[in-house]
Amino acid sequence: MSIKLAVATAFVAFLSALAASALNTEGSLEDSLDANSACSRIQATISSASTVYWPGTVHYLEDIEHWASSSTQNSTCSVEPGTAQDVGTILQILGSTNTSFAVKGGGHATNLGFSSTTGVHISMIKFSEVTYDPDSSTATIGAGNVWDSVYEVLEEQGVMVVGGRVTGVGVAGFTLGGGYSWLTNQHGLTVDTVVAFELVLPNGTVTTVTQDSNPDLMFALKGGYNNFGIVTTFTLQTFPQGQVWGGLLTFTENVIPQVTAAAANFAANVTDPKAAIITTYNFLLGEPGVSQILFYDGDTQPDGIFDEFLAISYFTKDIQTRSFSSLVQASPSNITTGTRGIFNTVPILEYSPELLDTIVNETTYWGTQLSWDSGSFISYDVEPFRPNLLSYGSTNTAAYPPSRAQPLLPLNLYYAYSLPASDEAFWDAIQQSAENIKAKAVSLGQDVANAPMYGNYAIFSTPLESIFGDQLGRLQSIKQQYDPDNVMGLAGGWKI
Ligand SMILES: Cc1cc2nc3c(=O)[nH]c(=O)nc-3n(C[C@H](O)[C@H](O)[C@H](O)COP(=O)(O)OP(=O)(O)OC[C@H]3O[C@@H](n4cnc5c(N)ncnc54)[C@H](O)[C@@H]3O)c2cc1C
Ligand SMILES: *[C@@H]1O[C@H](CO)[C@@H](O)[C@H](O)[C@H]1NC(C)=O
Ligand SMILES: *[C@@H]1O[C@H](CO)[C@@H](O)[C@H](O)[C@H]1NC(C)=O
Ligand SMILES: *[C@@H]1O[C@H](CO)[C@@H](O)[C@H](O)[C@H]1NC(C)=O
Ligand SMILES: *[C@@H]1O[C@H](CO)[C@@H](O)[C@H](O)[C@H]1NC(C)=O
Ligand SMILES: *[C@@H]1O[C@H](CO)[C@@H](O)[C@H](O)[C@H]1NC(C)=O
Ligand SMILES: *[C@@H]1O[C@H](CO)[C@@H](O)[C@H](O)[C@H]1NC(C)=O
Repeated sequence: MSIKLAVATAFVAFLSALAASALNTEGSLEDSLDANSACSRIQATISSASTVYWPGTVHYLEDIEHWASSSTQNSTCSVEPGTAQDVGTILQILGSTNTSFAVKGGGHATNLGFSSTTGVHISMIKFSEVTYDPDSSTATIGAGNVWDSVYEVLEEQGVMVVGGRVTGVGVAGFTLGGGYSWLTNQHGLTVDTVVAFELVLPNGTVTTVTQDSNPDLMFALKGGYNNFGIVTTFTLQTFPQGQVWGGLLTFTENVIPQVTAAAANFAANVTDPKAAIITTYNFLLGEPGVSQILFYDGDTQPDGIFDEFLAISYFTKDIQTRSFSSLVQASPSNITTGTRGIFNTVPILEYSPELLDTIVNETTYWGTQLSWDSGSFISYDVEPFRPNLLSYGSTNTAAYPPSRAQPLLPLNLYYAYSLPASDEAFWDAIQQSAENIKAKAVSLGQDVANAPMYGNYAIFSTPLESIFGDQLGRLQSIKQQYDPDNVMGLAGGWKI
């Protein structure tokens, strides 16, 4: 076959693929051609403050990258808007061309498609502002930040915001979903501390949302994720912050019963709002173990609170007086960065010893069951807070949580693994395990059978009602008002 003929044959094959794709209901080739023209239009329209990147460039790869590699998709292009006006221009083009897109903050969502797309990927990375205003005790934070960068700036000023507990987590998705922090026992969830959002509405209009200017959107954005537009900056309350005490202890299998007893006692008895812990049961390299983070908002620990943990013989110990940032970075949360992964959650009323024993059993059971994937890492983050954790805001002022009647505590299930072919097995297992734990909690008398789930931890198959509860109707009518054409429906996530 001559070269010319080969080229002609290939071209005919391409044309027939194109024709077939036009008939194909999935329309993926057609979609990506459309996304391509949307990318070009965006490139031609945005200001010089913003940039479109194409596959094969370093910026593109960084833009689409996620904490869990299973959350990364190859988009048609990526765009880094540099101004809120350009975000508006981009939304107008995406809406008018009906092009699928994604918005990524810190890229920590573990549900595929929540901040990834095969269409136009919007990375907020250029919104990197962190400004402290001592007069109003607020910080204005660009939507492209991770909490680490925010803390670095604020602790220099002797203040802090209610943000993430471990390294690398994005401000945007965290804050738009709720936000459980080391400071939650003292100041509530992150959504309880938001003073203003700069929001680009789905029709491209840039607006500032405050309680006075727009109580509906204020309510909706405090837990309503990406349904109401794209947030460019968050203004959060700040609180005085000095050194903190704590860090990471790790324990091996033989002392798990002692750790469980200490965690249950802490959960049941701690009254000091400056104290907090996360007890993570995990299964790694064929054995269960515990990663225990201790936090105290003061430069020394007060007598008693942590004694039980400190008396257990540890495997590793990194406990000290340190900066807030240093404590946040002491956790091993990023050892699995870049592996596949999935989260799930169970709402808990009480981390009793019996319930913790069940969680330990689930750790060992699923750790063993799923060990055929050589990268398998199974973990359960036990996150006790004080019973008044939801008293810093009221129902009707924030989309999350849908009710503040019960002091629900989020349990975070996290499974990591290496093979794409393992996705379904790990998704099934993490759902089964959450059901087992919930059933146990119910059998212990906890009224959680229909309790709301934290959307930033919940697996993609979770019904919308389980996340937004009785507030779903109000959220839908706000959505109808501000996004009648459902532009934000072109992006994935919890879709109201
Ligand atoms: C290691 C780790 C630790 C965590 N620790 C905590 C914790 O301590 N407390 C807690 O509450 N949660 C925690 N989480 C959960 C965390 O809140 C979610 O993963 C959250 O999605 C992270 O936000 P992000 O910006 O990194 O995510 P992304 O994946 O970038 O975004 C998540 C969602 O928000 C949307 N979004 C992002 N930016 C914008 C924007 N500017 N405007 C509109 N929508 C936007 C996205 O479209 C997507 O739907 C943790 C997660 C991980 C992986
Ligand atoms: C993205 O594209 C790269 C390069 O073509 C490929 O290796 C990778 O598997 C693709 N990833 C996904 C999630 O499709
Ligand atoms: C937009 O695209 C979706 C599929 O991605 C399709 O279902 C919908 O009908 C389209 N809407 C319009 C107005 O073309
Ligand atoms: C903590 O509370 C439990 C249940 O109320 C109680 O049995 C236990 O003795 C308490 N532990 C400590 C250390 O106070
Ligand atoms: C993990 O976090 C630490 C502290 O922020 C950082 O120094 C390190 O580079 C991170 N590692 C990975 C693999 O991301
Ligand atoms: C441990 O968990 C497995 C899976 O949920 C269950 O089948 C088993 O009965 C549990 N064992 C105990 C002792 O609870
Ligand atoms: C965009 O939507 C807002 C809120 O609904 C509205 O006030 C504004 O007039 C709209 N802008 C345009 C250009 O239609």
